[in-house]
Amino acid sequence: MSKVKTLAQIKLMQKAGKILAACHRELAKKIVPGVTTMEIDRFVEQFIRDHGATPEQKGYRGYPFATCASVNDVICHGFPTDTPLQNGDFVTIDMVVNLNGWLADSAWSYTVGEVSKEVTDLLRVTKECLYLGIEQAVIGNRVGDISHVIEKHAEANGYSIVREFTGHGIGQKMHETPHVPHYGPKGLGPLIRDGSVFTIEPMLNTGKRHVFIDSDGWTARTADGSLSAQYEHTIAVTKKGTIILTDQQLEGST
Ligand code: MF3
Ligand code: CO
Repeated sequence: MSKVKTLAQIKLMQKAGKILAACHRELAKKIVPGVTTMEIDRFVEQFIRDHGATPEQKGYRGYPFATCASVNDVICHGFPTDTPLQNGDFVTIDMVVNLNGWLADSAWSYTVGEVSKEVTDLLRVTKECLYLGIEQAVIGNRVGDISHVIEKHAEANGYSIVREFTGHGIGQKMHETPHVPHYGPKGLGPLIRDGSVFTIEPMLNTGKRHVFIDSDGWTARTADGSLSAQYEHTIAVTKKGTIILTDQQLEGST
């Protein structure tokens, strides 16, 4: 059984989440044709440090950067590079903010300039999957209820769901229980409780679901070269409702 968090602990995680959300809001303005993902990575690291926090991904199991930057057919864990983003690309930027030992994790897919309808549709449905999943994150439901609604919506729209990477509990460590798969039957899996805090982070492919890992040991691509998008939030389930700790809509100082 996964541990739950107190409201005070959730508030500490929300502080980290607000910094993270503010950083993503800045990225939405910065990601244009010609920018490199290495420049984005440097900006993110500086932004996080300027807010008194640290980039938890850097050094995590030897991962070398503050962000994962996953372009087009890259599913997740892409390394930032010096290659300029091009008009028509899209890129998922994933980061984890550590503020005073408490973490928040959120990935977002960004379009670069004008993108095709194929890309627009993929991003829209992937985001819909995330928010449908969040709707199922209520006390008394099971993790499988989240998994199932995401898989159903992706498949109804002709996309496949990556299985090798899942959402996860999070707190003072990046990866805690429960595992939150984005596929599978409803009604099964761990019970969602008052104080459950975890990520939901569906990765949808336009082609088949299978993954290929590059020789760097990290970069996960679609095996068939099709496109892959991802949206991720950290959420906290409470008696008073579910809080999106990395919500970019929320006003408020960081
Ligand atoms: N933020 C990722 C997640 O959603 C983890 C990235 S792996 C790292 O679980 F090595 F880059 F940290
Ligand atoms: Co993440």
